[in-house]
Amino acid sequence: MPREWDATAYDALPLPHQQWGKRTLGQLTLNGTERVLDMGCGTGRDTAALLDLLPRGQVVAVDGSLRMLDQLRKRLAGRLDRVEVVYADITEPLPVQGHVDAVTSVATFHWIPDHAKLFAGIAAVLRPGGRFVAECGGLGNIAAVSAAVDSFLGEQPAVWNFAGAEETERRLRDAGFTGIDVALVPDPARLEPGEQLRNYLATVVLGGQLERLPAAEQEAFVTAVAARLAEPVIDYVRLTISATRAAS
Ligand SMILES: C[S@@+](CC[C@H](N)C(=O)[O-])C[C@H]1O[C@@H](n2cnc3c(N)ncnc32)[C@H](O)[C@@H]1O
Repeated sequence: MPREWDATAYDALPLPHQQWGKRTLGQLTLNGTERVLDMGCGTGRDTAALLDLLPRGQVVAVDGSLRMLDQLRKRLAGRLDRVEVVYADITEPLPVQGHVDAVTSVATFHWIPDHAKLFAGIAAVLRPGGRFVAECGGLGNIAAVSAAVDSFLGEQPAVWNFAGAEETERRLRDAGFTGIDVALVPDPARLEPGEQLRNYLATVVLGGQLERLPAAEQEAFVTAVAARLAEPVIDYVRLTISATRAAS
């Protein structure tokens, strides 16, 4: 299974993910009765927004972190009768019964190495004509942070998959999607220098590197990355995806 996330620290941060979630869900047109899959739902912020949009519908909320899903259950207490909470690794075939009417995902797919397999898996559970809207880190994402990481750790196995627009369009077409709209959108996020920047880096950005480091070296690593940034800015470039599963 994928690594665990610190759900409490995550929700305490000023997350640009809130805007990314609004922007992504804003591309769905729903009649309120659908069943929608939220991939990498985390602590359930967008799952909650989906429930608001689906007064007679359901959400399938999938994530590979038990701590994130515990936080989601707390957030959605009293509304869980309309949520299927699924603990699963989305690099594997999705354990979703039947079809869903739409699929959404925010800030997750850059953690998934094989996007061709990922999109084929989504097409397998999305009904023909169903919409797929998502966003994640794309080509050029957090280049300054990556340079700071490399200058401290040296050459390391890849942690992130920041895909480009053209290759993403091709993979979506190959997986059976149509009406494809993919873009790369620069969207830098400014944080307070010091503790907030370090907490943000440790909780949201550097988890893949931190899990490979001994505990005694982790704090120095995060401090060094923060110190090597010219500004307290995470230089995000988002890959936005909107597509429709072709009628078969
Ligand atoms: C940055 S968080 C985004 C959470 C939420 N969508 C949001 O916008 O706040 C990334 C999420 O992806 C999940 N994730 C990463 N790799 C995964 C995998 N292979 N399978 C399932 N979930 C995964 C993590 O557990 C985490 O909750």
